[in-house]
Amino acid sequence: MLNKLMRKKNILSEGSIADQIANVKSRQIPAHVAIIMDGNGRWAKKRNLPRVAGHHEGMKTVRKIAKISNEIGVKVLTLYAFSTENWKRPKLEVDFLMRLPGEFLNTYLGELIEENVRVEMIGDLSLLPDHTKKAIEQAIRKTKDNDGMILNFAMNYGSRAEMIRCTQELAKMAASGEIKWEDIDEDMINSYLMTADLPEPDLLIRTSGEIRLSNFMLWQLAYAEFSFTDVLWPDFDEACLLSEVEEFQSRSRRFGSVEGEEPV
Ligand code: FPP
Repeated sequence: MLNKLMRKKNILSEGSIADQIANVKSRQIPAHVAIIMDGNGRWAKKRNLPRVAGHHEGMKTVRKIAKISNEIGVKVLTLYAFSTENWKRPKLEVDFLMRLPGEFLNTYLGELIEENVRVEMIGDLSLLPDHTKKAIEQAIRKTKDNDGMILNFAMNYGSRAEMIRCTQELAKMAASGEIKWEDIDEDMINSYLMTADLPEPDLLIRTSGEIRLSNFMLWQLAYAEFSFTDVLWPDFDEACLLSEVEEFQSRSRRFGSVEGEEPV
């Protein structure tokens, strides 16, 4: 797999990606990497292309980044593909974005299965068009027994909506006497979020120079390391991801304590 990737990038002789891979693999790999994939529109504009061309190119980046993440041993890769606020975009763009999961999975599902990747999703699936829902459900079904990296798409996802849903569930159970209000703690809240079965993100990356969270995993990112890069998502390649992991590995994570000042 590594050699194949290097041959494809024609860098077998340079060995730079190989060096970077070996380097990051010798240190702790972030178990869960979450990415806000931003900058598709600006990438297209710079080339006098319609915005949707940027999204299409961004889809190819999804493949590259999923492959390299899997290769270095990331356990969960969560990608913010469509937010609960993205419905406000022009209909043409929304329609295009809704077709991308289908196109992506039609093209690459075989490859994901071969690489033992499991596809999952967070977000409100019920509001997606039938064709989008079908593509995602099929990918989830066909990869459910894979035990490699989880490729987790956040589709029609919004952290506030997720927290409202969780709060309502817990309030309902408290009102019916199923739980006591004073039993509500972090673990219980975690278990009612859409990420219940996933570890918390260790590393959050946002591309394109924007420095905000845009309603993405607000609870779950409490102790993640943040990285904001100017690179536009369609230009974000394997070397960029590896550099982000190297940067993560140089950080000292203390989770509020004063111990463990050594970099991870
Ligand atoms: C934000 O960039 C990007 C999105 C809202 C969509 C992200 C979607 C993809 C990268 C493709 C997803 C692929 C699959 C397989 C689901 P923007 O359009 O806001 O960029 P701009 O800020 O430059 O305008």
